[in-house]
This record gives sequence, structure tokens and C-alpha cells, in this order.
Amino acid sequence: MKIQVINGPNLNMLGVREPQIYGTLTLDEINCRLLQKGKELGLELEFYQSNHEGNIIDKIQECYGKTDGIVINPGAYTHYSIAIRDAIAAVGIPAVEVHLSDINRREDFRKISVIKNVCLKQIWGKGVDSYTEALELLAGKLGKA
Ligand code: DQA
Repeated sequence: MKIQVINGPNLNMLGVREPQIYGTLTLDEINCRLLQKGKELGLELEFYQSNHEGNIIDKIQECYGKTDGIVINPGAYTHYSIAIRDAIAAVGIPAVEVHLSDINRREDFRKISVIKNVCLKQIWGKGVDSYTEALELLAGKLGKA
């Protein structure tokens, strides 16, 4: 089973970026942990990060016919990118939306996700475990949400 992990804008700054909110792990460190988890679950992972909406859409489209599942942290695009939402719907690949922070306990604008309705599940507030839980879900360990 092939899984594409996609991280959106500013997530390349993890480790430096507001560590009181997002923790101290860098994106590379998070990806290392995910590789480990993927191994345990028998998943083949690929990683992608971009600060640009169109690049993220291109990556989602590239997944068509090649990838069994998507784990996506769209960053701030979560809250307003209909185009990313439509790309996920277009490819029809099971996707899980993840967030490091608890988006429901922050500013009101973060409570809105235009992405979540095209995903199997939205997982938030668990740091790196938001991602590992998404992998478990996609691996069929937790069943569909
Ligand atoms: C985030 C939450 C978003 O609101 C924010 O814009 C991010 C990161 C998270 O992982 O908690 O960039 O997606």
C-alpha cells in the first residue's frame, strides 16, 4: 500500500515555528517517525511539502492511479482552499486530514475546514500522533471513520 504524505505552507518551518503550538520536532524528524510507523504497518510512504497551493494540487493529481492513500496537513489552506478540496475529490483517493495543533481550540477561523468533507477523517491536536493515527486508519487498523 502506497501512501503520499503532503504538508502545506509553513510546515517546513516546524521546529522553529511557534514551538509552543506545533512542538519542537522538525518536519524531517516527523517524517522519520512516520517512516518507522509505515514499516510497522507495511506501508510505503512518500513525502511532499510545498508552500504553494498549485504545487499541492499538482501533487494530489499525480497521485491518481499511483497512490492508495493520502495523509494531508494542508496548513492554512485547510481553512479556505476549495481548489485543494476539489483536487482530493477529483482523484477519489482515500485521504485523511491531519493537524498538529487543536484547531478547534484556537482562533475561530481555524475551526472551519473546507477539506474535511472529502476526507475519511479529520485528526487534530495530537502532534506527530495525528499523522501516525492517520496511517493506522489508512492501513485499515481502525476501520473507516
Ligand atoms: C495546522 C493548523 C493550521 O491552522 C495552520 O495554519 C497550520 C498548521 C496544524 O498542523 O496544526 O499551518 O494545520
